[in-house]
Amino acid sequence: MDDRYVLLTGGLGFIGSHTAVELLEAGYSVVIADDLSNSDISVLGRIEAISGRKPVFYQIDVSDRRAVRRVFRAHDISAVIHFAGFKAVGESVSVPVKYYRNNIDSMLSVLEEMDQAGCKRVIFSSSATVYGESNPVPYREDMPAGACSNPYGWTKFMIERILIDKAHAAELKGEDFKATLLRYFNPIGAHPSGLIGEKPNGIPNNLMPYITQVAAGIRPKLSVFGNDYDTPDGTGVRDYIHVVDLAKGHLAALGHIERDESESLNIFNLGTGRGYSVLDVVKAFEKVNGVPVPYEIAPRRAGDLAWSYADASLAEKTLGWKAELGIEEMCRDSWNWQNGPACRGEL
Ligand code: UD1
Repeated sequence: MDDRYVLLTGGLGFIGSHTAVELLEAGYSVVIADDLSNSDISVLGRIEAISGRKPVFYQIDVSDRRAVRRVFRAHDISAVIHFAGFKAVGESVSVPVKYYRNNIDSMLSVLEEMDQAGCKRVIFSSSATVYGESNPVPYREDMPAGACSNPYGWTKFMIERILIDKAHAAELKGEDFKATLLRYFNPIGAHPSGLIGEKPNGIPNNLMPYITQVAAGIRPKLSVFGNDYDTPDGTGVRDYIHVVDLAKGHLAALGHIERDESESLNIFNLGTGRGYSVLDVVKAFEKVNGVPVPYEIAPRRAGDLAWSYADASLAEKTLGWKAELGIEEMCRDSWNWQNGPACRGEL
């Protein structure tokens, strides 16, 4: 594996950085391409501090084909894991063209340069958001995707479509190209070292970063978006997954796509298969960490669903991977990260 690299686009982001650590620890050589638009260069040194190995780094925008070409020319890249993309749901509603341009362009330029370089394996960061608003839970990979509630979700759907079409075309032509779509549920938690984690810009949109900032006294209270859903306590239910488990899911997916038995197109949910409500998460956080999380009930947030959780059995059966960490570890590690010097910018 030494002379062949795995390219992680967006590899300094929340999920990319945790995946880099798992890959390096498993013996893969890693190239990271990241434009630092929503990440920090200090993450690179922390990946090295945790794993004891140094990834190669390029500060480039992966929608720039010539820049991507230089990376492929400099290294023998056997597979790409494509994390790069804008991911703020609310922002995608207000500036949709920016989201379509960036997210789709970056995937297309990576695919075109993969072709040029003869790289034939790609894993894509998709999302449970592609199950849209009309499928029943638990979500299974063979359910129809679509009916997304925002442009961010549609970019995931469209990139899935591009990869499905490309894998299909390759199969028809007898070419050895394979794509794997990983549909993430709700990643939270952080590396137990406290050195890498999620650092949202400005006011957090997602539940766990908001909770940790309330617990830390940065924000006065959490707004719980709706308590009149058709769920046990009326608040939204999600399938939260520890980001370290999610990163290990990428390692399993990479091993799988490298083997002959994988198909030209593979789709896996990466979730735990278990749902927790907003209030379940608040209570678990308070209990595990011994800190209060003041909250108030607020109106529903547009586009939110009552339920979202995975049928996680396909990944277990096919990849031999399943999430191991529970809600307690997720809450503990999120809080450990929030309180650590790395998150507070003191490292
Ligand atoms: C959203 C996106 C998903 C994206 C994910 C990570 C949709 C429909 N969902 O998931 O595609 O991958 O973010 O960026 O596009 N909540 C509160 N108060 C808060 C924040 C959240 O009550 O301040 C509630 C929400 O109503 C929801 C749950 O917490 O029930 C989880 O919300 P969030 O962390 O934002 O994730 P999703 O909306 O599930």
